Amino acid sequence: MPINLLALSRPISGILPSLASTVYNLPLGVKGGDIFLEVGCCFGQVLRQLAHDGAPAQNIVGVDVKKGFVDLGYELFRDRESFAARIVIGDMLDTKDSALSALDGTVHLVHAASLFHLFNWDDQLKLGERIVPFFKRGLRML
Ligand SMILES: C[S@@+](CC[C@H](N)C(=O)[O-])C[C@H]1O[C@@H](n2cnc3c(N)ncnc32)[C@H](O)[C@@H]1O
Repeated sequence: MPINLLALSRPISGILPSLASTVYNLPLGVKGGDIFLEVGCCFGQVLRQLAHDGAPAQNIVGVDVKKGFVDLGYELFRDRESFAARIVIGDMLDTKDSALSALDGTVHLVHAASLFHLFNWDDQLKLGERIVPFFKRGLRML
């Protein structure tokens, strides 16, 4: 089976068909000012796909606990100087992580793919509870 981790020609709307294609046009929304956050962004290929699809980098944010993965992303894509999306190093299971609390109340969309399965049930609940405060007040869930 081919690994398409780096298949950047595929629009991100293909990753989230029910949300992005039918209900919400993700790159268009982020172009319009929505703030997109990927939790557990790893190498940042999803963040870069979104930028490639036309969303402004200042509206794209990533979070990962492993700086090494984020650094590998910059090396892999050779864009440390040019990729302007903000990537925050922080632990989603640490409720006192101040790097993450700086994002509270700032986000319109959270993408958390291939993440929840890494945790047991209790930590999945903590993860979900940590995601909620990221959202801007007054948003409705789709
Ligand atoms: C399987 S990768 C998913 C990468 C990406 N979301 C994707 O869909 O390809 C999971 C990522 O979650 C990160 N992660 C694991 N535990 C975390 C935590 N407690 N806080 C933040 N990120 C975490 C890992 O470092 C890893 O980069």
